[in-house]
Amino acid sequence: MHLYLSGYRGTGKSTVAELLGHQLGVGHVDLDREIERAAGKTVAAIFQEVGEAGFRQLETASLVELAQQTPRVIALGGGAVLAAVNRGIIERTGRCVWLQASEETICRRLAADQATASLRPRLTALPAVEEVRKLLAEREPLYRQVASFIVQTDDQSVPAIVERIVGWWAG
Ligand code: S3P
Repeated sequence: MHLYLSGYRGTGKSTVAELLGHQLGVGHVDLDREIERAAGKTVAAIFQEVGEAGFRQLETASLVELAQQTPRVIALGGGAVLAAVNRGIIERTGRCVWLQASEETICRRLAADQATASLRPRLTALPAVEEVRKLLAEREPLYRQVASFIVQTDDQSVPAIVERIVGWWAG
């Protein structure tokens, strides 16, 4: 069984995955990094060249690959739950934790993250805050649907989040 981490951009999936994989002794992998490795280019470059639809195809292909490998902690991309085929893979091959955060927290974290502009392609033509509001509304039902466990991350440290997940996973 893999331990998948889902949630919107800026909810701490990659950071939590690293510490969690270490604590559970299974290691971790980041779906976005796997897509970049397979494609030989960055997520931003993929979006530029083949658009979001092309990126989603590569995302499913990399998820299929990872799901077949040794169980570990897998940090999903924020939009990985959009495709029904991906949700099926996640549900069949692991348990998924939704790292939840409010719209305000997400906007604050993304604005504070210097890498956001260059590494995170915009997903709509809307202003940043409205994009987050719209996509969160669309995606929250899907995050909820695949989640076996939900962790509220707004005012929690990474070690505290990891501790909660380890407790749930062990129990
Ligand atoms: C996306 C989130 C990104 C990455 C891509 C699309 C999304 O992953 O997969 O830019 O649709 O929310 P992170 O959530 O790791 O930033």
